[in-house]
Amino acid sequence: MIDRPRRLRQSAAMRALVAETRVHPSDLMLPIFIKEGLEHPKPITGMPGVFQNTELGFLDSCQQALDQGIKSVMLFAIPLITDEIGSEAYNPAGVLTKAVRAAKARFGDELVIVADLCLDEFTSHGHCGVLDSKGYVDNDETLKLYQKMAVVLADAGADLLGLSGMMDNQVASVREALDHNNHNTGIMAYAAKYASSFYGPFRNAVESNLEGNRKSYQQDYRNRLEASNEIQLDLAQGADLIMVKPALSYLDIISDASAISNKPVAAYLVSGELAMIEAASQQGWINREAAIAEAVHSIKRAGASIICTYWAIEIAKAINNDEY
Ligand code: PBG
Repeated sequence: MIDRPRRLRQSAAMRALVAETRVHPSDLMLPIFIKEGLEHPKPITGMPGVFQNTELGFLDSCQQALDQGIKSVMLFAIPLITDEIGSEAYNPAGVLTKAVRAAKARFGDELVIVADLCLDEFTSHGHCGVLDSKGYVDNDETLKLYQKMAVVLADAGADLLGLSGMMDNQVASVREALDHNNHNTGIMAYAAKYASSFYGPFRNAVESNLEGNRKSYQQDYRNRLEASNEIQLDLAQGADLIMVKPALSYLDIISDASAISNKPVAAYLVSGELAMIEAASQQGWINREAAIAEAVHSIKRAGASIICTYWAIEIAKAINNDEY
């Protein structure tokens, strides 16, 4: 036997020497929830260790991320008032816009501020766009509102906009609105976003009133070619980065994305994926830290160069302590 692969597995040092995948704190993006009018941070059901933050308290989370070498945060905001057309999303004095402005004032260019660009937190029905008379999400009417929201968030200083609504032509529409207003803000396009049950706890985080599902605009988990099409469309429309979401049940899609894309690929380890690992480890059924490390490395190995995860600070600390 000439080839004995176990030779390179004999010690931790040897394994580190030949490791093909390394995660660095700057690969990580931290999603943060901000709730309008909240006085104290509030734990989120199904997301142990993750909180709704107050309108200023979230800046501490940004600072903790920065202290560990993380370079970006993604902001989600929950307004006090919702309506049919998500008006607070494009209110220049709205909760998300204010948060972007506060983060930019505090951190300047040290931290990349990504603002989620979608209407679902802001609509009374919880859909990612406006509804037509039959209750169907109206693509092209929604695009007009995304354009307004994009300009308001760019005015506030967002570095990147996270287009997560899965409307057709959203990247081109937002790019056009930004350019028209002389904004060079980048677009992180959720190119391949699946209608997923793994978003369950996120709906608690943003207090969503959604009834039904998002299957008429998010992708069908049975499809792989469809993701390639979505990715190509977004790249052709001017996406600066593309996102695959969720991550762990979609490693094949991440792999396809990294093969097709000439722009950076991000993947989002979503709320339900976090919940599964947290719940199993609370039962004593799996080793929590080892499972988190394995999950995050698998996403990088599949081809994502950016990993969006609620565990970002904890993972960065572990890397900085040489535990990975
Ligand atoms: C919608 C949005 C969702 C998530 C991020 N942005 C939920 C959805 O599409 O239903 C889910 C993230 C997570 O589960 O962690 N703007």
